[in-house]
Amino acid sequence: MTSPPPASLATRTRPPGESLVLVVDDMPRNIQVVGNLLREAGYQVAAATSGATALRAMQQRPADLIVLDVMMPEMDGYEVCRRLREDPATSEVPVVFLTAAADTEMLVKGFAEGAVDYVTKPFKSAELLARVRNHLDLKHSRELLVQNAERLRQLDDEKNEFLGILAHDLKNPLAGVVGFADLLLDEPDMDADERSDHMQMIRTSAQRMMMMVRNLLDANAIERGQLVMDVAPHDLVDLVNFVVESFRARTAAKGQTLEVHRPDGPVPTLVDRTLAIQVLENLISNAVKYSPPGKAIQVRVRREPGLTHFEVQDEGPGLSESDQRKLFTNFARLTPGVTALGEDSTGLGLAIVKRVVQAMRGRIGAISQLGRGSTFWVKFPAAHLTPPGDNLVTSGEG
Ligand SMILES: Nc1ncnc2c1ncn2[C@@H]1O[C@H](COP(=O)(O)OP(=O)(O)OP(=O)(O)O)[C@@H](O)[C@H]1O
Ligand SMILES: [Mg+2]
Repeated sequence: MTSPPPASLATRTRPPGESLVLVVDDMPRNIQVVGNLLREAGYQVAAATSGATALRAMQQRPADLIVLDVMMPEMDGYEVCRRLREDPATSEVPVVFLTAAADTEMLVKGFAEGAVDYVTKPFKSAELLARVRNHLDLKHSRELLVQNAERLRQLDDEKNEFLGILAHDLKNPLAGVVGFADLLLDEPDMDADERSDHMQMIRTSAQRMMMMVRNLLDANAIERGQLVMDVAPHDLVDLVNFVVESFRARTAAKGQTLEVHRPDGPVPTLVDRTLAIQVLENLISNAVKYSPPGKAIQVRVRREPGLTHFEVQDEGPGLSESDQRKLFTNFARLTPGVTALGEDSTGLGLAIVKRVVQAMRGRIGAISQLGRGSTFWVKFPAAHLTPPGDNLVTSGEG
């Protein structure tokens, strides 16, 4: 089975307006002619009337391609080319020589100094443009190859890490399943209660593994841009109450309190209902998991101009600065560990949440101090309620 390339690999071609061409010639008249031609074709153009100025210009703002006159007083085109090749910052920039005569010896020398092509004077506009375009395309393709190779390497690292974690994390629950199944098979006379206990253990382990696999599939779907959303106005307070109620049993069991602070009236917010619930669940679940028993958790909803602010504040262990830098990345199981039996951690929740929030045009962040608890916040776009009878409309972007 072949999988499609990751959506984030770049493949598009670059429009001329994004390329800067430096024209170097000691004759201002030539610069004008070549410059106008390139400008009319849509390129950005910079000019230099000597080799030294050209090298300085390349230090300040490197061009994507250089059209370089060979015969210039003081520093000729060969010398300029050689110096460009010596500097790693400019060594890859294609140089097209403008030469008076296509004398073989001169051309060989030009190529030896690192030119990629040449055009003889007087030149034909179409030919110069074609050569410039080809070499810019080639350069762009080379850059894309490098970028894509780097991206693939990152994806490969993530995949290896993923396989390692998967193997590691599935091993324990799987060993449990096998162990309990063996017990059930080896002892046919086991009493009904014990039998039921063992089956319950098998079920819990299997559920845990299913959860992990589901998380990974979610992360993968988002990575590939296959997240299906139905963004519409929803009262965020409604969603928060719904999620908070679903945590009551867990917080009660840990002796934690879970309070909701909210403004009067509905807080219409533009979200996908299921995904927003997933976000709220993850953040509240983290506060519950990483706070010790007996602590308080505050959940707040606020209206801000054009936005709905949501936050979860806990009295848990807080996060060091180095931990904070790794938040929201894949498999970031950080220093704080779970604080009660039966709680799990795959280190994927926040990475998924961040992508989901961004997909809904929201923002997410955390404020934390080691030993002083954490506050995780999310800002979603607000939806404005217009006078009764009208539909809900979205707030302005920005
Ligand atoms: N409220 C919090 N207080 C302290 N540490 C936290 C808090 N939220 C997250 N962390 C730390 O950040 C790590 C990553 O959190 P994240 O939600 O991404 O994964 P997880 O909770 O480990 O697993 P999952 O959410 O997939 O079940 C956690 O392992 C924990 O160390
Ligand atoms: Mg989590």
